[in-house]
Amino acid sequence: MPFVDGQLLRMRLASEPSLTPAECLSILRDVTRALSYAHAHGAVHRDTKPDNRGHMSHKTIAAKLSAPCLAALVTFAVSAAAQSTPPARGSGPQTINPGEIWPDNRGQHIQAHGGGIIKYGGLYYWFGEQRGQDVPPGQRAVSCYSSPDLVNWTFRRTVFTMTPADRPADFPGTGIVLERPKVFYNAKTKQFVMYVHLDNTGYRAAEVGVATSETVDGEYELIKHFRPLGRESRDIGQFIDDDGTAYLIFEDRPNGWHIAKLSDDYLSIERDVHLFPEHMEGGALVHLDGLYYAIGSHLTGWNANPNLYATATSLEGPWSGFKDIAPPESKTYGSQSTMLIKVVGTKSTTVIFMGDIWRPRTQWDSRYLWMPLEIGDGKLVLPEPRQWTLDVRTGEAVINKQAPAMVLPPPAPRGGPAGGAAAAPSSAPPANP
Ligand code: DGJ
Repeated sequence: MPFVDGQLLRMRLASEPSLTPAECLSILRDVTRALSYAHAHGAVHRDTKPDNRGHMSHKTIAAKLSAPCLAALVTFAVSAAAQSTPPARGSGPQTINPGEIWPDNRGQHIQAHGGGIIKYGGLYYWFGEQRGQDVPPGQRAVSCYSSPDLVNWTFRRTVFTMTPADRPADFPGTGIVLERPKVFYNAKTKQFVMYVHLDNTGYRAAEVGVATSETVDGEYELIKHFRPLGRESRDIGQFIDDDGTAYLIFEDRPNGWHIAKLSDDYLSIERDVHLFPEHMEGGALVHLDGLYYAIGSHLTGWNANPNLYATATSLEGPWSGFKDIAPPESKTYGSQSTMLIKVVGTKSTTVIFMGDIWRPRTQWDSRYLWMPLEIGDGKLVLPEPRQWTLDVRTGEAVINKQAPAMVLPPPAPRGGPAGGAAAAPSSAPPANP
């Protein structure tokens, strides 16, 4: 029997919780074949749980025989079936309420601010700034959530943390600022590569940090930090084109903002593709029907401003002039762009504006404004936020026109829970770059 390399079943179940009955049967068939082979050769083995299943063919198999094996197999089948039941909540249209508390599977407000999303192994992964009150002062953290439908999110874990003690020896200034994490999966190196805006207190370092992990929600390790193309870099964004090419978007205060192609291994910048001379941040891109749409905000720190968009047939340009995405007096309905997500379904394609409603004094209570854009033929409009539904299978988004327009509740009291009422000590807002 040949050695077959591959991931542990536990990992597969974690990334694809909705295995079909046919897939379960196929896995069980493989397991029984392996066991039958082992028994025929007088080998003994230990329990056949999903954590061990990937190792059976190449590890020395030690311990018990047939009867326990049968029991273990039944356990395995039950365990696989239980873990493969698709979450019922993930099917059909799911409701999004912009501006409201967005609870995760634990009932806690999602902490993934300034975030980015990738799709991997049938699930969406949302990485963002973890601003929960349990993050100790001076420390910064990145959280990772997964979802089958972009609406119901499971907290996976805190995947990256930095304290002032973790500062690289050659990092200038003092303190640590870590914002707008973006994760790319590199299929060639099979590595997950995270870019973050890495800075010091006062935002004068203006660098990116690059951290990698072998698994999507593993422990990311900082491997380098630098100024991309030797330029100042604060807000970053990510863009993966339809052909899979990966780009880093970064704000270069003296010059504008860049679209930069990543190197083959994603660990560095290969070349500058375009420099927008406009001074903007929160940059994001989407490619739709042969046209690129770029959006971003003005530079007003944590305060909302009218976000803008431009279009081009090529990333290199020429780009159109920038126009408002919403009535300018609404200041993007109090939000700031972080990413554009394209959902291609069986019936329709929806582009979602993913924005942050920042609450600098109570960051943990910062909200999310996600809305499906009216986009096409060179026009892009952010509709007035209100409840809507998304079906990732069909790609359809339906705005509930009967629902009231979003009204933002007052910020949580300092020290209180997100959207909650408890009052506690105050904290000063972080410095604006
Ligand atoms: C605006 C940026 O978009 C945010 O990510 C954050 O860096 C704030 N500035 C800090 O003032």
